Amino acid sequence: MKIDGQPFRTIWLKEDDSTIVQIIDQRQLPHEFVIKELTTVDEVARAIREMWVRGAPLIGATAAFGMYIACLEAKNNPNPDTYIHTAAKKLLSTRPTAVNLRWAIDKQLEVITSQKNIYQKIEFAQQNALQLVEEDVECCREIGLFGLSIIETISSNLNGATVNILTHCNAGWLACIDWGTATSPIYQAFDKGIDLHVWVDETRPRNQGSRITAWELGKHGIPHTVITDNAGGLLMQQKKVDLCLVGTDRTTRTGDVANKIGTYLKALAAFDNEIPFYVALPSSTIDWTIENGQDIPIEIRSEEEVTHIRGLLNGNIEKVLIAPKNSKALNLAFDVTPGRLITGLITERGICEASEKGLISLFPESAKT
Ligand code: MRU
Repeated sequence: MKIDGQPFRTIWLKEDDSTIVQIIDQRQLPHEFVIKELTTVDEVARAIREMWVRGAPLIGATAAFGMYIACLEAKNNPNPDTYIHTAAKKLLSTRPTAVNLRWAIDKQLEVITSQKNIYQKIEFAQQNALQLVEEDVECCREIGLFGLSIIETISSNLNGATVNILTHCNAGWLACIDWGTATSPIYQAFDKGIDLHVWVDETRPRNQGSRITAWELGKHGIPHTVITDNAGGLLMQQKKVDLCLVGTDRTTRTGDVANKIGTYLKALAAFDNEIPFYVALPSSTIDWTIENGQDIPIEIRSEEEVTHIRGLLNGNIEKVLIAPKNSKALNLAFDVTPGRLITGLITERGICEASEKGLISLFPESAKT
């Protein structure tokens, strides 16, 4: 997508030195646009853990590049294979919920272990990381085209009046490589001239909605309004939401989805108000090994993210305390929305019911034998 007319992706290899990975440091958005360089596995692990990069598909892509860097580092190690496997474990331990992390590391290990010498491992790990990135871009583009049909239908039912879409967290291009998952249909519909407006949940505690989604929608000229996380229910009762569109970090084979904390409450409110609630995802987000959403590991992050808030103060990004100094806080980063509350899953292969039957109809290769 473009930032002030210049095309950008969220992760890439440096033009004049392909041993360096470059990323947009999302901690600084929307106030500062900072590009960071990652040159070691430790830096990659830190970037994922501390959320310089975030969002399920981007976490996976960053780990894939991390495995490439692991191969570069292994060149100077007496036991390259052990070194690479240790690096894989280190990267895997960074964030527990988004399954794309495991998916990307496994894909890289498959390619790396099948190569005999370290030079081939390096070459194939780089190629594979670049290919995973291209595939994610294509998946997101296709998700956008399928999701566009939903927005077109709602627009035509409204006789061309503004389609109001509510989204939670950031499932935009900054959570992926390009296009985004939940935002891809929005970009495609807007570019086609459909009149739309997006309600952006601020998404406490890290404010991915007000900081990142609002910023990227604004850069594309899409009308949007930031709301508090608790406002969605009232807006739905007031018939000011026509569609909810969110992403997911892990989808079970039965169609339950783990997404940013607060998603479940939006799904409940949408269900009660008979508002369509769709979840957009590339198939790399499906965990075919899990049946029940309650078995998805939920990340617990630091108390400080809840007790403090970061923002721009006198030209500097500052962190301020907003809770009593000694109060304890619990920072559950994700929740699980059961498939029964979801109108449909939008994937790169089409739209399906949020159930095992629905997913298998699009991905028959994953049926149990
Ligand atoms: O903690 P984050 O910011 O990594 O959480 C991101 C989300 O919850 C997104 O909605 C999800 O990854 C889908 S991204 C296309």
